[in-house]
Amino acid sequence: MAAPDPTSLVDIHSHLVPGVDDGARDIQAVLDSIERMTRHSIRRVITTPHIVGSLSLDPDRLERRLGAVTDAWNEAAAAIGQRFPEVEYRRGHEVLLDVPNVDLSDPRIRMAGTSFVLVEWPRLQLPPGTERVLKKIIDAGYRPIVAHPERYHGMGQAIHVAGRWREAGAYLQMNYASLSGRYGPEAQTIAFRLLRRGWADYLASDFHGHMRLKLYKSEVWTILEELGAGEALSYLCRTNPGRVLGDETPLPVPPLPAERGFWARLRGLLQGTTA
Ligand SMILES: [Fe+2]
Repeated sequence: MAAPDPTSLVDIHSHLVPGVDDGARDIQAVLDSIERMTRHSIRRVITTPHIVGSLSLDPDRLERRLGAVTDAWNEAAAAIGQRFPEVEYRRGHEVLLDVPNVDLSDPRIRMAGTSFVLVEWPRLQLPPGTERVLKKIIDAGYRPIVAHPERYHGMGQAIHVAGRWREAGAYLQMNYASLSGRYGPEAQTIAFRLLRRGWADYLASDFHGHMRLKLYKSEVWTILEELGAGEALSYLCRTNPGRVLGDETPLPVPPLPAERGFWARLRGLLQGTTA
C-alpha cells in the first residue's frame, strides 16, 4: 500500500466486508464501492460490519464471528491492494448495544485496533440509560463514537441527549445521506441542528455496497460549501476521521453559521438533490 495522500478524505463507517452482514455481498461489490469512493476522493476507509454487542459476552461465538469477518476482510484487502494500491482499507465494527455491558477488549471489534469503537442502539430507538452505557464504555478505557444520532426516532425532541453523550466523552458520526434528505425531513433537520451546534465530529457514508444507492458525498459537499461550511467539512471528512486512525480525539468542528434565511437557502439548494 502506498503512503496515504494527506488531502484525501477518510470514511469511518461502511459495510464493505463481503458477505458478513447486510452490506456488500461479494468482492465485486466491495471493489465497485471502493471505486466509487475513490471518485469522491475517499482513499482511507475503516469499514464497519455489524456485530451484536451481546456476542462479546460469549467467547466461543465471538471468536467464530471475528474469525469469519477476518477471513472475508483479508480476501477483500488483497483484491483492493491489487486494484487500488492507493487505498488504505482498515476495519472495525458497528457494535449494536443490545446489552448494557459489552466487552470491547478484543481490538478486532474496535476501529483499526484503536481505542475508538463505533456504536448504535437497536431499531433506531433510544432506550433509557444511553448515557450510562456510554460512560461505562469510556470508564473501561474506550472512546465510543455514536453512529448516525440524527436517525434515532424522537431525537428531534431529545437532542439534548446527544449533548449529554458528548459531555460524557462520546463522539458523534453523522451520515452524508441524512444531510441530503435521503432518510426524510426529520433526520435531515436534526442533522443540520447538530451541525449548527458544532456537535457532529465525523461525517461518513454508511455505504452498504448497494450500487443503486448514491454515496451522497458530492451533494452534501455542494450544499455545505454553499452555506459557508468548507472548513467544517474538512474537519468532518478529513482531519477528524484521520485522527481516528492515529487514535487521537477529534478537533472541535466550527458550527454551521446560523444566518438569516438559512432554511430558505437550504431548501433552495436541496431542490433536485432529495429525490
Ligand atoms: Fe452502519
